[in-house]
Amino acid sequence: MLSEKLEKNIAVFVSGGGTNLQALIDAQERGEIKNGRITYVLASNEKAYAIERAKKAGIECEVVSRKAYAASEAYDAAILAALEHRSIDLIVLAGFLSILGPSVIEKYRNKIINIHPSLIPLFCGDGFYGKKVHTAVLASGMKVTGATAHFVNEITDGGAIILQKAVPIEQGDNEDILQYRVMRQAEWEILPRAVSLFCEGRIRIDGNHTVILGRSENKE
Ligand code: GAR
Repeated sequence: MLSEKLEKNIAVFVSGGGTNLQALIDAQERGEIKNGRITYVLASNEKAYAIERAKKAGIECEVVSRKAYAASEAYDAAILAALEHRSIDLIVLAGFLSILGPSVIEKYRNKIINIHPSLIPLFCGDGFYGKKVHTAVLASGMKVTGATAHFVNEITDGGAIILQKAVPIEQGDNEDILQYRVMRQAEWEILPRAVSLFCEGRIRIDGNHTVILGRSENKE
């Protein structure tokens, strides 16, 4: 019996195309986000196509533009103000390409999940985002890559790992092909699963490790 009963309010932060937001919306519509609901979408730029996806799904969406704030502290304050009256239990960074500052991370400690398009600790940290990750992966000559859903702390891509999935690199891949395969085979699957596990209260954090509760062997 799970102790967590109240449905969690989920805020999704976006900056671009929003395919990970769409995967969350689709999972929610299929009943796969258990004990949680996306109640708010925050976009860091007004051109993000993710905004259209939120509108189409009937989810409240606001632009809190990074460009409108010179200092990162002011941007963090604007984000905190946007969240203040919304009783947000979980923030999901779904292709959110601005860096969250310490005030947001501290207030939502262990309540922020990010999706990163590589197998952390490889190809992550400052400067590794979006297609740049896949460019570096291809240059490395590796035969496998993947995606990671993890908690956010003060170290870029350094928080506790929740779920990972490996994806093969095929001969002849370019950045676009590899990015799409990683999204389709890994990101769109593990991000909704990680979000659901959080909302169900099934993730225990132990230092920089997580334990998924109610999971037998390596299967859920
Ligand atoms: C995704 O591949 C996501 O993993 C990546 O940006 C893309 C956003 O796509 N995020 C990062 O690189 C964060 N470091 P989307 O807007 O279609 O979801």
